[in-house]
Amino acid sequence: MSARSGGAERPADRARPVGPALMVIFGGAGDLARRKLLPALCNLREAGLLGDGFGVLATATRPLDDASFREQTREAVCGHLGERFDAETWSWLEERLFYERGELGDSALFERLAERIETLDRKLATAGNALFYLAIPPSLFAPTVEQLAARGLFDEAGGRTRRVIVEKPFGRDLESARALNRALAASLAETQVYRIDHYLGKETVQNMLAFRFANGIFEPVWNRRYVDNVQITVAESLGVGHRARYYEEAGALRDMVPNHLFQLLGYVAMEPPVSFAADAVRDEKGKVFSAIVPFDPEEVLHSTVRGQYGPGAMPDGGRVPGYREEPGIDPASTTETFVALRLAIDNWRWAGVPFYLRTGKRLPRRISEVVVEFRRVPFMMFRETPIDHLSPNRLTLRIQPREGISLHFGAKVPGPSLRLGGVDMNFCYRDQFGEEPATGYETLLYDALRGDATLFQRGDNVEAAWSVVQPILDVWHALSPRDFPNYPAGSHGPEAADELVGREGRRWRTP
Ligand SMILES: NC(=O)c1ccc[n+]([C@@H]2O[C@H](COP(=O)([O-])OP(=O)(O)OC[C@H]3O[C@@H](n4cnc5c(N)ncnc54)[C@H](OP(=O)(O)O)[C@@H]3O)[C@@H](O)[C@H]2O)c1
Repeated sequence: MSARSGGAERPADRARPVGPALMVIFGGAGDLARRKLLPALCNLREAGLLGDGFGVLATATRPLDDASFREQTREAVCGHLGERFDAETWSWLEERLFYERGELGDSALFERLAERIETLDRKLATAGNALFYLAIPPSLFAPTVEQLAARGLFDEAGGRTRRVIVEKPFGRDLESARALNRALAASLAETQVYRIDHYLGKETVQNMLAFRFANGIFEPVWNRRYVDNVQITVAESLGVGHRARYYEEAGALRDMVPNHLFQLLGYVAMEPPVSFAADAVRDEKGKVFSAIVPFDPEEVLHSTVRGQYGPGAMPDGGRVPGYREEPGIDPASTTETFVALRLAIDNWRWAGVPFYLRTGKRLPRRISEVVVEFRRVPFMMFRETPIDHLSPNRLTLRIQPREGISLHFGAKVPGPSLRLGGVDMNFCYRDQFGEEPATGYETLLYDALRGDATLFQRGDNVEAAWSVVQPILDVWHALSPRDFPNYPAGSHGPEAADELVGREGRRWRTP
């Protein structure tokens, strides 16, 4: 489903190919391009959503030409699409795939790119439209944009479109996010900037809006009168893997909270937008972030928990090393691999409702979900079922795995006595709609090519999210953690995370 003007269809249902455009991928030979972007373009073509006036110009440092780049990309795309690789689709894309080698610090590269964009525009009939994708290290975002602007490549004269997709992470704190926004604003209009968070490409995330605003039955109870608390969990079972260098600098808070978790928070907590136009949705999301009660240092100590995994056993019995023993990690590292927060949103709808967020690595299962827990009934008539044995009504929006929605409620256990038990009503995307071939980037690329920014982050939203997180970064930076590692790999995180919720008489819902 899709949360944009036009209604709630999937891209394939609309079957309207995007207009002509050349996609220029910086970092076009890197991991993201090979694993996600180029396979996503194949899927879009197969769904009939890319017309013939399309091409890709990739640039990176490795010494390749068009032919060897095509060859390498074919292998990568074939490897990632597996059985779904379609030779016909590939030959369509291959004819439109070009490579320019160069170093982004070298201004001569940009001269060559400008020339090639013009030549390819004529050759492929891309009508002067270009989508620049920055799949490069974040330190290169601003200088690359500056170089492109200096050659007039963002000029939209004559009705052509020039857009830029900026990858995450967008800044590493409030100050750097502001600086990057300023650098982008010096060369581009906000409407030309598409800050990507691939979480928003997921069906269930988009479905949260459809679910909330297209169904009359839930909206009346979506507020402080009926909702007891909201829990957002993004758990990973993997460790740090090959991202050691990046992760040591970032940590779980920066890596996950102001982007992925806040996107989920925004969608679950926002007011109904006046339309599904990009700015209407993003205005409402921004209001949620601005209404989060700011953390003062005392509140950081009271309402946040950080953790780092030690050695342990995963549910399959396999033993895994602790974070400090992983390759490339400092043996005395104080980087957190787990975060739990309690947030309050000070507005009419949510006053008094706690929002609990948690994310971490080496938790038992990979799972992302939003759980809305409803208040209990005011009076329990079923005496044989003590109230504390009955779990509250719960609506779970599952983002992965098995994307879907389930509702938990009480029902009578069959038998002569009147006893209650908890039951679930489940909806699973795969069972209902079948599985769509998707890398998670199809919808986002399609939208950026069409100029729909609904699922992309606006500059002020990004800064508002960093403003919430900044005091936590400051306090954590000032006070080194003394108890790391404080949870074994394969557990649900540090005990303090359970206490954070438990001291308010609640429990994390454990999937
Ligand atoms: N991979 C993912 O799944 C993922 C997910 C979310 C966000 N991202 C973000 O996407 C961006 C790219 O990530 P990645 O995983 O694809 O990284 P990567 O595999 O290291 O690829 C980086 C690409 O940038 C090119 N590059 C680096 N420095 C350059 C320079 N000075 N001049 C010209 N080209 C240069 C590299 O060229 P060579 O190929 O010649 O080395 C490579 O093609 C990062 O901002 C990352 O945070 C990635």
